[in-house]
Amino acid sequence: MEKMIMEKRGHVLMIPFPSQGHINPCLQFLKRLAFKGVKTTLVTTKFISKSTKPVLGHNIGIEFISDGYDNGGFAESESIESYLQRLQTVGSAELTQLIKKLNSSSEVQNPVNCIIYDAFLPWALDVARQFGLVGGSFFTQPCAVNNIYYQFGKGLLKIDDSTVVNNNNVLVPGLPIPLRASDLPSFLGVPGTYPAYLELVLNQFVNLEEADWIFINSFNMLEIQVVDWMTKTFPQLRTIGPTIPSAYLDNRIEGDNDYGLSLFKPDSSICMNWLNSRANGTVVYVSFGSMAELNKEQMEELAMGLIGSNAYFLWVVRGSEEQKLSSKLLTEIESGNKGLVVKWSPQLEVLSHVAVGCFVTHCGWNSTLEALSLGVPMVGIPQWTDQPTNAKFIADEWRVGVRVKVNDDEKGIWTRKDLDVAIREIMEGDRGKEMKRNSSKWRELAQQAVGLGGSSDQYLDEFVATLIC
Ligand code: UDX
Repeated sequence: MEKMIMEKRGHVLMIPFPSQGHINPCLQFLKRLAFKGVKTTLVTTKFISKSTKPVLGHNIGIEFISDGYDNGGFAESESIESYLQRLQTVGSAELTQLIKKLNSSSEVQNPVNCIIYDAFLPWALDVARQFGLVGGSFFTQPCAVNNIYYQFGKGLLKIDDSTVVNNNNVLVPGLPIPLRASDLPSFLGVPGTYPAYLELVLNQFVNLEEADWIFINSFNMLEIQVVDWMTKTFPQLRTIGPTIPSAYLDNRIEGDNDYGLSLFKPDSSICMNWLNSRANGTVVYVSFGSMAELNKEQMEELAMGLIGSNAYFLWVVRGSEEQKLSSKLLTEIESGNKGLVVKWSPQLEVLSHVAVGCFVTHCGWNSTLEALSLGVPMVGIPQWTDQPTNAKFIADEWRVGVRVKVNDDEKGIWTRKDLDVAIREIMEGDRGKEMKRNSSKWRELAQQAVGLGGSSDQYLDEFVATLIC
């Protein structure tokens, strides 16, 4: 493990969208910068400050601004539309005040000279410009998905009703594989659903050409074709991922075993003790991330598929989802010796445990990158947003998993049998062996990308060199 570089250069403020799936990669990116000697400050909401105690360390400060909903965050708002609107108006005013405060004294050793903002918050670039600061956009989703949104927003990608109804092929320039309508991000593949979210993802590009930097949480080898393609339009684009605590990758940052800001409390010792008592490669880990809401029928098919499978399983059912799992099924799981249900897991520790042989996942981008980087094959059951596209790449481009067939109806039900077949394919079949080999290959490549002199590491050095003040 190397020593942290103590010479201080520049001061970067980073503002993630305030949800777990965005905070994790943004904070990890900051840790990498801090490790390279940059002073860094994470900016998050006052509501989050009330709900958790972050453990940041490593030259990282933290400041809180209001999103207009200090008592409940998003849950306090009437709708996603009103949340986003207040986040922008209240958030940009508070960010302006914060920069004034941080840079007010002439004695300040490290004045803020750069704002990196989540691509969901493009208004932060206007704040950066008011103060003449460097501004960089940070995309938490893969380059392929960003390319799809960009082309759609520009009118270069036409998706009409018949394409969706017939699940036709959609040719997206720059992508290495053809997609069907059902492989598109849900905001495009299921038109009319979540219009405010569609606006949110398209808005990522409103002022992107003016950003000094565009960082993508991915790595070159993983998405080489689409990265090359997008770099022609956005020469300031750099892949800097995977943003995973270094204990699980290159072990370069002392004590970096965890993302550092969890909105949920993990049942760590219960999970790890249970895994410790299982043989290598015998457990299926199941999680749908921090946001996806399964309905009752989906929960039941999932439970029955897991109970009927030949494997042990560790299943994360968030507190807000628990009431959808019938007490009869929960009792059946608890009284058997095959399954453990927890409210939240230490996911990185779980995925890197030798007992885990496969990950049943909603294919959120962090979960996908974590499984790829830790060499765990996946069974994809995508729910919404970028997840269908991630699932397509997992199965057909990176070949590290299978996607469970889901009915076309609006309830999105899969059958317990299809789930069982998918799990067996990975845990027992010949294709499973091939997927494990592919997973090991991606694990190596992910490690190389963030390792000393790897592509993501070099891009960070390039950025840091410009921050010297
Ligand atoms: C959301 C979107 O759904 C996702 O598609 C998008 O790419 C990012 O934002 P989320 O649904 O929460 O995120 O999924 P994911 O991206 O997988 O992020 C979840 C994070 O929570 C991961 O870093 C994972 O390690 C962590 N996690 C999840 C835990 O630590 N414990 C758990 O039990 C479950």
